[in-house]
Amino acid sequence: MISPQTIEQIKSRIDIIDVIGEYVKLKKRGVNYLGNCPFHNEKTPSFTVSPSKEIYKCFGCGKSGNTITFLMEHDKLSYVEALKWLAARYNIEIEETETSPEQKQAALASESLYAINNFAQKFFEEKLFTTEEGKNIALTYLYERGFRENIVKKFQLGYNPSAKNELSNALLNNQFNKEILSKTGLVVVRNENELVDNYRNRIIFPIHNNSGKIIGFGARVIGKADKAPKYINTPENELYSKSKVLYGSYFARMAIDKANECLLVEGYTDVISLHQAGIENVVASGGTSLTVEQLRIIKKYTNNITIIYDGDNAGIKAALRGLDMAIEEGLNVKLVLIPDNEDPDSYVNKVGTEAFKEFISINKKDFIIFQLEIMMKDAANDINKKNEVVNTVAATLSKINKAEDFTKQQEYIKQCAHLLKIDEGGLINLVNKYRRDSIVKEEKKLPFEEANTLLQQNAQQQTDTEDYFIASNDEVQEKNIIRVLLEKGLKKWNDEQTIAEYIFNELEAFQFDNKQIENLFNEYKSLYEQGAEPTVKSFLYHTDEAVRNLVITITVFPFELSQKWDEVLEGMNIVNRDVTQIDAQLSVAYFKLKKIKKMLEQNQADMEHASFNEQLQLIKIHEELKQIEMQITKNLGSVILSS
Ligand code: UTP
Ligand code: MN
Repeated sequence: MISPQTIEQIKSRIDIIDVIGEYVKLKKRGVNYLGNCPFHNEKTPSFTVSPSKEIYKCFGCGKSGNTITFLMEHDKLSYVEALKWLAARYNIEIEETETSPEQKQAALASESLYAINNFAQKFFEEKLFTTEEGKNIALTYLYERGFRENIVKKFQLGYNPSAKNELSNALLNNQFNKEILSKTGLVVVRNENELVDNYRNRIIFPIHNNSGKIIGFGARVIGKADKAPKYINTPENELYSKSKVLYGSYFARMAIDKANECLLVEGYTDVISLHQAGIENVVASGGTSLTVEQLRIIKKYTNNITIIYDGDNAGIKAALRGLDMAIEEGLNVKLVLIPDNEDPDSYVNKVGTEAFKEFISINKKDFIIFQLEIMMKDAANDINKKNEVVNTVAATLSKINKAEDFTKQQEYIKQCAHLLKIDEGGLINLVNKYRRDSIVKEEKKLPFEEANTLLQQNAQQQTDTEDYFIASNDEVQEKNIIRVLLEKGLKKWNDEQTIAEYIFNELEAFQFDNKQIENLFNEYKSLYEQGAEPTVKSFLYHTDEAVRNLVITITVFPFELSQKWDEVLEGMNIVNRDVTQIDAQLSVAYFKLKKIKKMLEQNQADMEHASFNEQLQLIKIHEELKQIEMQITKNLGSVILSS
């Protein structure tokens, strides 16, 4: 166990912006920082980090916590692992209280793997540069292919000699544990007890994680691969998981950020050659189709991904199919095919940096359109096949997250309908059908347990007080406005306005749904405007009994509203402070948000029966409402965090 003193030391050193900034591109907004939420898919940032409070909160998905819970959730670390991560980052020595042998073992495993990989990399590098065998066979090969010394050093390439167990012996001499050694894939056990080097006579490409630590290796035969596989890669272990790695991401991340684009190639050598050519925003997938985890690595830095494949690649169609996932993740995917049997490595060597860049920028094509064109060519005049194409395209388009990329989806529908020579309205309907189908499928697909937790989560959410104000009947928001007016309306909002005036202004464009509450609001307003300084008392003797009762329920007797409201304020740690302004601001924001949500729902319902032209109209309205909603949510976020 980590000692309490160490934990305190770690906590005192935590810089939440520094840590979360490692994963999320953060921009300063006032006292807080804002970025795209790493826990859900979004294009407009609603993930807010408060350095002074050392907390984060996403106003889109609701996730919140501190630096440690962030690491736990994001990197799937345990509490202890998160502490260790932080300790390593801030060079804090961990003082352990008593640990069980099992705990020690587990903690040691990944530490040992790092240590072994580190050792091996140095070993390989030395063999490449200082031994006759390395220089004659491996380095010569690399130089002949056009790699220069500085790039070989930058990527820490190496060579595993051809002798049976040079590396194995060096590792054993260094007291590395045999069992862990076999996990690394660097060595294999022969004849029960003998360790033999696994990458004999191969060039070694170390694979780094995002902080530059070596998590595995790719090992390439020298020259043509006849019998043996061209590359051998590290097996899955505590450090290395193929589906979560993008080769080169450590070296590329700054450049990706700067270019706001990530180039994706297939191979190790493609990455290295492009770097050498000065094109550094590039990572490699390792030749298999992309995984969600890999896409998320890219998404931390940019939403724009350009895939560069060699044109004759047989796997290209299969790879394209996997890309619907990227669309779902909100990425803009472009595609370029390299001609004439070349790959990015050979092509950039052949034509040079400028021509390569130009080729990419001229030829990159939107993935969806690209996919459509390939399929149309295949289908030719076959009606059935063409029908299939329309369906595939509609399915892909339905993956575009409507709430966030409505315009983008519309734009695509237009283009695709045009290319397919079909009616745009028809395509819209088909896309919507796929959207609905996939939602239904998602729900059905859930195994029992998952469905159960989902239900529980939903239940949990409903009791979540903050959500309550959005989810509940809008009477709550309407009453809440009256409460603020009656309790605080006459107080100062700022030097020019009272709270009441602030509220009148803010709600000018909105309507109350409850007639009684609306009457009360209007009456308050007219009294106020006559200079009558209305308070609760002004209404307690109102001639209309219904108004009297309403005012009483809102202000005098504790009821659901005030209780919930207190919980909200308490959750924000602002109880016992002068909350007048915050109270007014929040009440207005929740009121508006509720109304906007209602309008969105109504709009959606209207859409079902609308003609095509009406739909376009409604789509516009939808977009506008979404904009407003986002603005309010943002404001709400900044009120809560800066309070
Ligand atoms: P390629 O066969 O295109 O190799 O495989 P490459 O990257 O162009 O390498 P060079 O230029 O011939 O040296 C693309 C990627 O697929 C993975 C590797 O990550 C490789 O970089 N691969 C390929 C393997 O993992 N194993 C293999 O046997 C072949
Ligand atoms: Mn190649």
